[in-house]
Amino acid sequence: MAHHHQSMSSPMVLVFMTILALFAPICFSHDLKSSRLYPQFYHRSCPKVHEIVYSVVARAVAKEARMAASLLRLHFHDCFVQGCDGSLLLDSIGSIVSEKGSNPNRNSARGFEVIDQIKAAVEKACPQTVSCADIVALAARDSTVLAGGPSWEVPLGRRDSKTASLSGSNNNIPAPNNTFPTILTKFKRQGLNVIDLVALSGSHTIGNARCTSFRQRLYNQSGNGQPDYSLDQSYAAQLRARCPRSGGDQNLFFLDYVSPTKFDNNYYKNIEVSKGLLNSDQVLFTKSESSMELVKKYARDSGLFFKQFPVSMVKMGNISPLTGSRGEIRKNCRRVN
Ligand code: HEM
Ligand SMILES: *[C@@H]1O[C@H](CO)[C@@H](O)[C@H](O)[C@H]1NC(C)=O
Ligand SMILES: *[C@@H]1O[C@H](CO)[C@@H](O)[C@H](O)[C@H]1NC(C)=O
Repeated sequence: MAHHHQSMSSPMVLVFMTILALFAPICFSHDLKSSRLYPQFYHRSCPKVHEIVYSVVARAVAKEARMAASLLRLHFHDCFVQGCDGSLLLDSIGSIVSEKGSNPNRNSARGFEVIDQIKAAVEKACPQTVSCADIVALAARDSTVLAGGPSWEVPLGRRDSKTASLSGSNNNIPAPNNTFPTILTKFKRQGLNVIDLVALSGSHTIGNARCTSFRQRLYNQSGNGQPDYSLDQSYAAQLRARCPRSGGDQNLFFLDYVSPTKFDNNYYKNIEVSKGLLNSDQVLFTKSESSMELVKKYARDSGLFFKQFPVSMVKMGNISPLTGSRGEIRKNCRRVN
């Protein structure tokens, strides 16, 4: 009887398994559709979102070239804290302690008014449809393009957080005086590797840094009263003129003094000749993890940099997004609904 039962059930099990195997891709693809980002996410619900974002960013960058850099940086500082969820945009209200007051962001992160302008224009066309997190991702891409950099399709469908994390902002975003291993560890925690680190750091081909972000290199790098000799000393002397031992903390300097508003590969060429502005830029010129090889590669061939940068931006934009019914679509990027 037992033998009979077994011989009957085996083909049944096989049939059942076959049916499961056949339908599994459909079940999973449905699942993926709600949890994965994809470029056509607003195809039906807000087809004009791309041109609206582009036109507001273009106007802002025409008014001030640096805005392209500031908007690009916002996406980075958003994604490294709780994922790309617009948490960075929240102001301190009620129980929310804004990330805008963190060490990396205080007196530094900017472009929030432009995000507000984009959001207002998008809300007018498609009320409560497009997330602030997606707006930041699109603005980062458009900024790169407007500065002369490569373009890419931005996967979309992120939703906005109802929380912010000041401690996450302080701890996850690398500091300019972090060592190479520390910076790489912070990237790896986000699922990014050394290729992403070197390519994304190429963002420093545009934008500014304040004296306070690199002063240590000019005067007392190792706490021994000596400057950082991995910095070209005539370049260092020029920097000291407007970045004194004390005072002038907020004085601004180009991250890429050769072509400060153009998205190109001069950032890597500067590093090769010891003219990376931040310590975190210059430490990429280490043999560890082939980082130096990558810097040399992108310095030699901007095409390679332009090919890798979009790949790494999409990867960064995929850090723990809120999808499906998680989070919300904020009406105002500065506060939860
Ligand atoms: C690798 C670790 C990184 C460190 C330590 C770092 C640090 C910094 C610092 C200290 C500044 C100047 C801030 C100031 O003085 O006000 C800055 C500016 C900037 N960063 Fe980074 N950064 C890193 C990676 C990135 C990444 C991955 C991106 C973009 C994908 C990025 C984009 C920018 C841009 C565009 C600016 C100029 C912003 C402006 O002019 O408003 N950075 N970064
Ligand atoms: C890095 O800079 C911060 C802020 O200026 C400072 O508190 C810290 O001591 C510095 N760390 C190192 C390793 O120099
Ligand atoms: C250099 O830094 C060390 C440690 O932060 C400090 O004790 C020392 O006084 C500084 N020296 C100079 C010349 O600034």
